[in-house]
Amino acid sequence: MALVTTTEMFKKALNADYAVGAFNVNNMEIIQGIVEAAQEENAPLILQVSAGARKYAKPAYLKHLVLAAIEESGLDIALHLDHGADFDICKKCVDDGFTSVMIDGSQYPFEENLKLTKEVVDYAHAHGVVVEAELGKLAGVEDDVKVDSRSATFTVPEEAAEFVERTGVDSLAVAIGTSHGAYKFKGTPYLDFERLQEIHKLIPDTPLVLHGASTVIPEFVDLCNKFGGEIPGAQGVPEDMIKTAARYGVCKVNIDTDLRLAMTASVRQFLVENPAEFDPRKYLGPARDAIKGMVTHKIRDVLGATNKR
Ligand code: G3H
Ligand code: 13P
Ligand code: ZN
Repeated sequence: MALVTTTEMFKKALNADYAVGAFNVNNMEIIQGIVEAAQEENAPLILQVSAGARKYAKPAYLKHLVLAAIEESGLDIALHLDHGADFDICKKCVDDGFTSVMIDGSQYPFEENLKLTKEVVDYAHAHGVVVEAELGKLAGVEDDVKVDSRSATFTVPEEAAEFVERTGVDSLAVAIGTSHGAYKFKGTPYLDFERLQEIHKLIPDTPLVLHGASTVIPEFVDLCNKFGGEIPGAQGVPEDMIKTAARYGVCKVNIDTDLRLAMTASVRQFLVENPAEFDPRKYLGPARDAIKGMVTHKIRDVLGATNKR
């Protein structure tokens, strides 16, 4: 039981038709819910921290909560920086003991992204830390006018091969039609699996990463709507598309929105049904259970990662 890199997890998952869940964490209850599910499912686990999460919880709290989770559960866990925007935050996380960092240079031109990624790879590898990069831009739902214009920013397979070769990056996030948040598609969901297969064919040994992979579980959207403000038109990636991605080189599946929805649905329901209750444990306990149930479903029925530890 230790903080581990993703190297062994990805080696096992690559071409084995399952993916490792990478869950965003912001506080103790979220961490506990996820870790309890992974423990019971005997599944590999990545916990990831965004710049926003670091700011919200303060870096030391999240790191020590993850260390506590390892001690309590006996699991090996990878601690990953999600969407590192520059060299500085990646370096800070490497120095803080993260085992994996993402440098997200996807908004820069190819050569600039490559140079930035290479700098992070050199520093991280010298410290035993692995690096995820991103090539291509995730679609925003506002870009959803036509599939054609959406795909203009998708990852170009030949560029992905050159990028991996020249940077030595350990894993690559690809843009094939997913997007962050609860509104991923207007109308029929579309992911470019031909492109994904082509990328996987050109770089078969590179674990691929799918961002924006929440399925936006209707049960939680409905509960949020029933017990509070509306989340109209929410639509996630269909579960079977996540399974398909895992067959074509995707080893890491990023999930944040589903955690937010599960937690918020539970808290809203509890407070509406128990308006006189004001002990936070009374509503955060069920919220933690809701997260655990949701993550169990992901690991078992969507990612296929049960007993893959
Ligand atoms: O991809 C972004 C993650 O959902 C993290 O979101 O920056 O609001 O923490 P955040
Ligand atoms: P979702 O918004 O689909 O949960 O994606 C999360 C993510 O990609 C974190 O990096
Ligand atoms: Zn992301």
